[in-house]
Parts: sequence; structure tokens; C-alpha cells
Amino acid sequence: MKILIKNSKEIKKIYKSCQLAAKVLEMIKDYIIPGISTEEINNICHNYITNIQKAIPATLGYNGFPKSVCISKNDIVCHGISHKNDILKQGDIVNIDVTILYNNYYGDTSKMFFVGEKISKQSKLLCLTAQKSLYKAISILKPGIRLYKIGQIIQKYVESKKFSVVRNYCGHGIGENFHEDPQILHYKSYDYGILLKPGMIFTIEPMINVGHHSVYLTNDNWTVKTKDRTNSAQYEHTVLITNLGKKILTLRKEEKEIFNNL
Ligand code: MF3
Ligand code: CO
Ligand code: CO
Repeated sequence: MKILIKNSKEIKKIYKSCQLAAKVLEMIKDYIIPGISTEEINNICHNYITNIQKAIPATLGYNGFPKSVCISKNDIVCHGISHKNDILKQGDIVNIDVTILYNNYYGDTSKMFFVGEKISKQSKLLCLTAQKSLYKAISILKPGIRLYKIGQIIQKYVESKKFSVVRNYCGHGIGENFHEDPQILHYKSYDYGILLKPGMIFTIEPMINVGHHSVYLTNDNWTVKTKDRTNSAQYEHTVLITNLGKKILTLRKEEKEIFNNL
């Protein structure tokens, strides 16, 4: 396990990519309405990233992934592939996961969107719980904290709400590589003795399910779904460990208030 410590030059570049990714999520918000296809959403993101941001949508072609963003609806846990026949409808919950490559550095973030106004109480609570579990994990970050604490705090909170934490996918170090060490587990596991240090940059991206945590890979070899067909939600931020604590590199405008209080 080789955890890279980033210098201030690298941090600046990663922050830039992260902010571009966050901007895509802000931009796409108004398009998430009943009747739009996931393919149209993907294409709007693609055109914005390439034409306006002059950046590269990092998922396109990554290990053969065919789309510019991941769009994961309802019982899709992650890595959803958009399609022209996949039409959003009132009551759907959908995750959009954006990874930007700019100036040779990556930034990675995702959030949930509600389609229309008639969202079930359970779906709302699921999304809120995923978001809060991410915020709770971020709130404890500072140098000297043990890495396993992240998963511990997420799992404790999510299970207190009677939801489950997906085990098969994790957060990751990020920088010049899309995915690098360390793996960031979202449930409590063995304490590998890794301590957080200033200059570490990684994602936290809990996926949580209404029902059981088991998932399966569908036959397109990308789309991951819940085994019991219950809904799933995910939020993702890229974070930097600083001398005093942390900085959320993918913070959106709408979140600034929240993080002044963390
Ligand atoms: N953005 C995802 C993550 O958070 C990875 C997507 S890989 C893809 O790590 F190939 F599915 F796009
Ligand atoms: Co990620
Ligand atoms: Co991501």
C-alpha cells in the first residue's frame, strides 16, 4: 500500500478538477425532470465538460466504460449506464457521478437528485441518510485519525436508520490516478493502523440500501444493483487532509453553509 502525499502544486490542480466536477452537478440540476432520458442527461454533461470546461470526462473509456458520467437510478447502486430508452419518472431517485480529468489530475464527486415532487418518505430518508453519513465521516477528519474510523462512523449512523452499507465498493485515493491507495471502506473492518496525514487526498462515497447490503453485477458488466431490488443511494466527495483538519475539494455552493458548521 503506497499512499501518496500531495504537495501544494498538486493540491491546487486536484482542487481545480474537483471544482469542475462539482460545477457539473450544479449545472445539471435543472434538467433532472420527469420525461428526460438518462442518455440526454449524459450528453448534456458531456458537452458541458468538453466544450465549456475544456476538460475530459474521466469515466468515458475508463476500463471500457461507455459513458461520460455514471447515472444510477433507484435500485442501481453504482456505475449505471445511461440509455435513450431510460426515461426518468416522477418519484425516481437518481445518482449522478462525475469524474473530471483536467491538467492530468482527477476530481470525483456524486450526489442524489429527486425526480419531480412526489418522492416517497423512504426514498427521501434514504438519500438524506447517505448524505449525512458522508458529512459525519468528513466531520471527524484530521491528521492522526485512524482510517478505519471513517467506515465505523458511516456504518453506525446508517444502521441506526435501519438501512445497510454496501460492502463491495469503496472510496479511494485520487490525484494523478483516478483510483489509488488507500481504499476507503464505508463499514467497520480491521484497523490497518493507517493514520491520516496532511496532503492525503481521497474520496468518501458511501452507497447505502433500503434492504440488504448484497449487490450483483448485471449482464452489461457495469451496472451494479441491489440483490433484493430495494432502492440505493450514494453521495461522494473528494477530501484533502490539511494541517488543521480537512477541506472538501468538491464542495458545491449549496453546501457551503453546512460546512461552516462542521
Ligand atoms: N466515479 C466512480 C467512483 O466514484 C467510478 C466510476 S468508474 C466507471 O469511483 F467506469 F464506472 F465509470
Ligand atoms: Co470515486
Ligand atoms: Co465517483
